[in-house]
Amino acid sequence: MKNALEVKKLVKYFPVKNSKNQVVHAVDNVSFSIQKGKTLGLVGESGCGKSTCARTIIRIHKPTSGEILIDGENIANKSQKELQSIRRKMQMIFQDPYASLNGRMIVRDLIAEPLIAHNIIRRSSEAQDLIEEMLERVGLQKEHINRYAHEFSGGQRQRICIARALILKPDIILCDEPISALDVSIQAQIVNMLKQFQNDLGLTYLFIAHDLSMVRYVSDDVGVMYLGKLVELCEAVEIYRKPLHPYTKGLLSSIPIPSPKLAREKVHPGITGDIASPINVPTGCRFHTRCKEKLKVCEEIEPEIKEISDNHYVACHLYK
Ligand SMILES: Nc1ncnc2c1ncn2[C@@H]1O[C@H](COP(=O)(O)OP(=O)(O)OP(=O)(O)O)[C@@H](O)[C@H]1O
Ligand SMILES: [Mg+2]
Repeated sequence: MKNALEVKKLVKYFPVKNSKNQVVHAVDNVSFSIQKGKTLGLVGESGCGKSTCARTIIRIHKPTSGEILIDGENIANKSQKELQSIRRKMQMIFQDPYASLNGRMIVRDLIAEPLIAHNIIRRSSEAQDLIEEMLERVGLQKEHINRYAHEFSGGQRQRICIARALILKPDIILCDEPISALDVSIQAQIVNMLKQFQNDLGLTYLFIAHDLSMVRYVSDDVGVMYLGKLVELCEAVEIYRKPLHPYTKGLLSSIPIPSPKLAREKVHPGITGDIASPINVPTGCRFHTRCKEKLKVCEEIEPEIKEISDNHYVACHLYK
């Protein structure tokens, strides 16, 4: 099966303000691939680099190093001009549908914007029929076309964002926590809709979430990130059945938290201690400061990610 997206040794460091030598190790040597029509779920605590990974793949950020292959073509070093045509193939949906839509624009102009940006049409009225059709496909109504974005609920706004992402008929969609900011009652609707589009259109998804419960039903494969590193990667069923990395086990043992406050703070009771600094990363395994199964070697030598069993990759000294 062909890879729609492949990332090889992707690195993205950010400079630290007022410091010449220090960097934020946001994404550090991450590799994975997603086959056409499949979904990779990417999970990990706040600040581990999930969004930076997606934003670098779609070239909002320029990678520090590494390769980003779209249908086999490396776009890591392409200029913004060269990226124009690639951008049609790949779109992103963001976490906050309030921040990603200008509330003072009408729906027609919002959905037409990508078409205009890519010189497909010149003004939104030219795509009236297409936009109306798109609105219905995302569960809104034709009549919504002249309404302002600020008139819509969070869930409806996310539907508008999905329409905007789909209007260019992309192959790949990077979904950065697309349901986290929505009411629980609406989350399933949006996920089911994204699933449906995937089936109908053969889309490839990178689906980011902060915990493993959210990606369970959408992912074919799951990758777990910790402090810029991919620490485990395997088929979705396998990660719930047989997690290997102590961090993954910790994420899984965190029971759903009924308190919205705790849920917002993304507390994982299965993992104690604070996440280490992405600026001064711990020596050896970055997780050793919190790991319950730590060995002496973990403080000194960084474990490389290796295939431990069929298609099951883990970066941990416990496995040889
Ligand atoms: N533009 C930027 N400039 C400097 N540092 C950044 C920038 N964007 C992200 N970072 C830093 O990179 C690290 C990874 O951030 P990122 O937003 O990718 O994490 P995340 O996994 O998406 O977190 P969350 O679950 O909260 O969305 C963090 O330490 C963050 O502060
Ligand atoms: Mg994020």
